Amino acid sequence: MGSAIRLQGLVRSYNGTRAVDGVDLEVLSGSILGLLGPNGAGKTTIVRVLSTLITPDAGTAEVGGFDVVRDAARVREIIGLTGQYASVDEKLTGRENLLLIARLLGLGRGGARRRADELLGQFHLLDAANRPVQTYSGGMRRRLDLAASLVGNPAILFLDEPTTGLDPRARRDLWSLVGELREQGTTVLLTTQYLDEADALADRIVVLDRGRIIAEGTSAELKERVGGRSLFVVVADTARLDDAAGAIAPIVGEHPQARDNTLSVAVTSSAVVPTVLRALDQAGIEVVELGLRTASLDDVFLALTGHAAEVTSETAEEGA
Ligand SMILES: Nc1ncnc2c1ncn2[C@@H]1O[C@H](COP(=O)(O)OP(=O)(O)O)[C@@H](O)[C@H]1O
Ligand SMILES: [Mg+2]
Repeated sequence: MGSAIRLQGLVRSYNGTRAVDGVDLEVLSGSILGLLGPNGAGKTTIVRVLSTLITPDAGTAEVGGFDVVRDAARVREIIGLTGQYASVDEKLTGRENLLLIARLLGLGRGGARRRADELLGQFHLLDAANRPVQTYSGGMRRRLDLAASLVGNPAILFLDEPTTGLDPRARRDLWSLVGELREQGTTVLLTTQYLDEADALADRIVVLDRGRIIAEGTSAELKERVGGRSLFVVVADTARLDDAAGAIAPIVGEHPQARDNTLSVAVTSSAVVPTVLRALDQAGIEVVELGLRTASLDDVFLALTGHAAEVTSETAEEGA
């Protein structure tokens, strides 16, 4: 397996500030690399360099063996890009958007129609195919955006925060579509702020913070570096999440992180479990699940950076 993407010493500044500050990166053909980092870490800047939208200040970037500066046109032929913000035309229907792209890529009328229908089916958009995109939910838009980036069967795909702003169900849908791409052998560079997303999808994870790589490895390797265990509590009523965190913090000596209806926090001993359960019981908080697991990527990020990743999943406009 060769490398599909290779970055060496990449530096890119905006107005004298280094957004990317010396990044080396390699993605093997057919694998999924998760580029994980909080807002402002430099993820989009790296994607923009790799997709030839901006040029590096220093260092080199190769995609499919082509230099992104010298061979930019060749690079564009083999990549697909799905950005953080949907790039499809709101006024056109889903089918029209895909047909337009297919025609721009040089497919004939029949070929374009076949490819569009194939993708609409694969992305569960056939029912909505003839409706203008402005009537689509957030999850449907994102699926169409991903479909649009795949019209030309790219060997290498950049997914820049593909699920930011989606509700949990739409996220899962997109995750399974990315899983299918892996099976087809597509190389994927996926950026995310969501540790569970990197955990679920990526073969290897690179953790980026303030323009620099602070850790890399498989999810298991990263978790091993932190060691220890993490206590997790799933509460029945999300409205009581803060109360639950307040009850747990004095026992474990740290404020738990919250996501959806789950709290988690690193612990050094299993002895805290009964105490935590009792405290939640006394506070009248109903617990759905409570237990210990090996450290999560959230714990890893906190340990590596000294600050928590932005884990608040923005709730979606799905159905809105
Ligand atoms: N067009 C731009 N002009 C000025 N600063 C920018 C621009 N794009 C990004 N930046 C800055 O570069 C840094 C990295 O941004 P970005 O690559 O978008 O991070 P991420 O995608 O990880 O959130 C941030 O500090 C951001 O404010
Ligand atoms: Mg970004």
